[in-house]
Amino acid sequence: MDKKRLKNLFQQLTVDEKIAQTVQLNGSLVAEYDVMNTGPMENLGLPEDLNIYEVGSIYNVNDFQKLKELQEKALESSRLKIPMLFMSDVIYGFRTIFPMPLAQAGSFDFDLIKEAAEVTAKESYLNGLHVLFSPMIDLVRDPRWGRVMESPGEDVYTAKRFAKSVIDGYQGEISETIDEDHVAACIKHFAAYGAPEGGREYNTVDMSNQRLFNEYLQPYQAAIEANTRLVMTAFNVLNGEPASGSKWLNRDILRKRYGFDGVLVSDHAAIKELIPHGYAKDTRDAAVKGLEAGVDFDMMTAIYAKELPELVKEQHFMELLDEAVWRILELKNQLGLFENPFRGLDQANTGEILTEKSKEIATALVEKSCVLLKNQGALPLKKDQKIAVVGPYGNSHLTIGFWASVSGNPKDAVPLKEGLLAELPEEKLCFARGYNMFDSYDAFGPLKAGIELLNGPIEAEEKLLTEAKEAAEEADVIVFTFGEQFLESGEGASKAHLGLPEKQIRLLDELKTCGKPIVGVLYTGRPLILTDIEDHFDSLLLAWYPGTMGGKGIANLLTGKANPSARLAMTFPRSEGQIPIYHAQLSTGRPLTSDHSDRFISKYRDESNEPLFTFGSGLSYADFEGTWQTAKAEKEAITFDFKVKNLTEIAGETVVHIYLKQRPASIVRPVRSLVASQIVSLGEHEEKECRVQLMIKELQVYDNYGNTIDSSGEYQFELDVLGKKEIISITL
Ligand code: BGC
Repeated sequence: MDKKRLKNLFQQLTVDEKIAQTVQLNGSLVAEYDVMNTGPMENLGLPEDLNIYEVGSIYNVNDFQKLKELQEKALESSRLKIPMLFMSDVIYGFRTIFPMPLAQAGSFDFDLIKEAAEVTAKESYLNGLHVLFSPMIDLVRDPRWGRVMESPGEDVYTAKRFAKSVIDGYQGEISETIDEDHVAACIKHFAAYGAPEGGREYNTVDMSNQRLFNEYLQPYQAAIEANTRLVMTAFNVLNGEPASGSKWLNRDILRKRYGFDGVLVSDHAAIKELIPHGYAKDTRDAAVKGLEAGVDFDMMTAIYAKELPELVKEQHFMELLDEAVWRILELKNQLGLFENPFRGLDQANTGEILTEKSKEIATALVEKSCVLLKNQGALPLKKDQKIAVVGPYGNSHLTIGFWASVSGNPKDAVPLKEGLLAELPEEKLCFARGYNMFDSYDAFGPLKAGIELLNGPIEAEEKLLTEAKEAAEEADVIVFTFGEQFLESGEGASKAHLGLPEKQIRLLDELKTCGKPIVGVLYTGRPLILTDIEDHFDSLLLAWYPGTMGGKGIANLLTGKANPSARLAMTFPRSEGQIPIYHAQLSTGRPLTSDHSDRFISKYRDESNEPLFTFGSGLSYADFEGTWQTAKAEKEAITFDFKVKNLTEIAGETVVHIYLKQRPASIVRPVRSLVASQIVSLGEHEEKECRVQLMIKELQVYDNYGNTIDSSGEYQFELDVLGKKEIISITL
């Protein structure tokens, strides 16, 4: 409807009706649906006269029949027929589950990431969802934190590009409205949620403003420029203020500085958590702080519902409430809900879900997301080799990762066995479980039976080990699948130890004694510490949580049908003591040079300064080489010209990185920071001329007050092709 009619509707709302619009509840509260719930489930204490079907939004109900019923009830209950907004934790796929975001980011294929997001939007739309609680674009540099899997990783440039691709895919063309087949994005978690002290979930974040402005805030800013319609606040305290109650963060930075005019939703119960943070003295104070910070939706607490009726008797709070409600109504209007409250639901048609086309996109993204970390010739596998596939991931559906269980179904996931059988002769393949993925199924509660059925009964470890060894003895090459099970990462899964469990190491040691080449295939939600076992592998492929088409894409990579090209989006440390460790570090005044014997330089006595695999690592079955041609600055952009050559007869793609080298400035800059990337596809011995443009404003640096610093002078850019580097200089 046009703005005038919307205003008119808004003016007819009573205060109670307005307050109800700011309440957001989980599906489990309205209809006792079994939905993902990530916080304490005590009785919220909602006011008795609040009609639950009149609240502004319900989230994490993903069944279109139930959503239809809910919308019907909402329209019956609401005097002015205001439809409900349906949101959900769809993070990397609705039913077609794509590789987890940290994996996707490593593809550096931002067009394909956008295509995947389009599939997610369409599947979500067809199931009646309006808003997705993603992309999560918190920078992450600490693999102890369980949520690194949901993020595009440690690098600012990568996170910015990822944010834009996903938002474009979800929302479609930038316009006033969000059209059919699309949904609104809700970026999260504003701000700096990915940097909790010690990597411990929900913990404090404390960082300099220059780091905030130059690094952590950058992906959110890019998301706002890409027109994200919603932003979610963060649980953490940031520099002394809880993010969900910070006026500075949410009004001064988010709204005024970055120009965000969409809906701000609190994270789960974050308004209430202002009290245990010691920031609000009681629920009334928490409501004041939330509203003053500009938080429009109060997710999963009764605080706005209970406290606002009294508070808004004061004009100042009434104005703030009006602001919040207006933004919520505008979003409903942008989605066309006043014209069609059953948007998407009226076409709910499961036939368009998990289509051949979406599976193709998912397979391509798996092939481009798995990182070849090491290859001494054991890969690709050869058709005439006898192959023992050892480890539970050799034949498992549990490869979609933590969040995908909200709307996805592990049963849809293609196990590696199925993928390999499609590529290799059956008689050459042998599968052995090797160890139990879970020690018990108890942690699954009501899901226990389903998971047990999918994964099989728990067996004696000794028996599994013996069977695996027998299979390995018979084979020419061993494919060892290992890593984390899916509950070990995701929200609420911080870890202090990042090594492998004892039983996996013992099995690997035993396999090593067979004297056969070992190919490792690592399933994990985070970088693990592999330092002591890395030399056991002849080749190592990082599969992450690859999603629905994992088994197919990984089999294609292992057999050489597809050629790996991904580069790590997050560094693998050598040991926990090095954390945080990331490529864009600042240099110390005493950097480690070749003279390791000097005591008084920046180093560890008992560990190298280098990670095991740094950001950007990743091999190919081919070999490529890059050479600079020219770099020219004109008006607003720098144009880089370079050549890339395939040195082999194996066709493939390579992800070219361009890094800015450290330069003297009034704020110390990283030793190296990624500023551009490009995918180059080359046939055998082919050479191509390539061009990349970089907007000069992307090189802007901020001081601790958020002001830009003088950026004229000489710049050095490094062309990085498969880790081979070359420098070019330019004066701006
Ligand atoms: C998470 C959010 C999520 C929300 C709703 C919270 O615990 O931090 O990322 O969107 O729950 O489920």
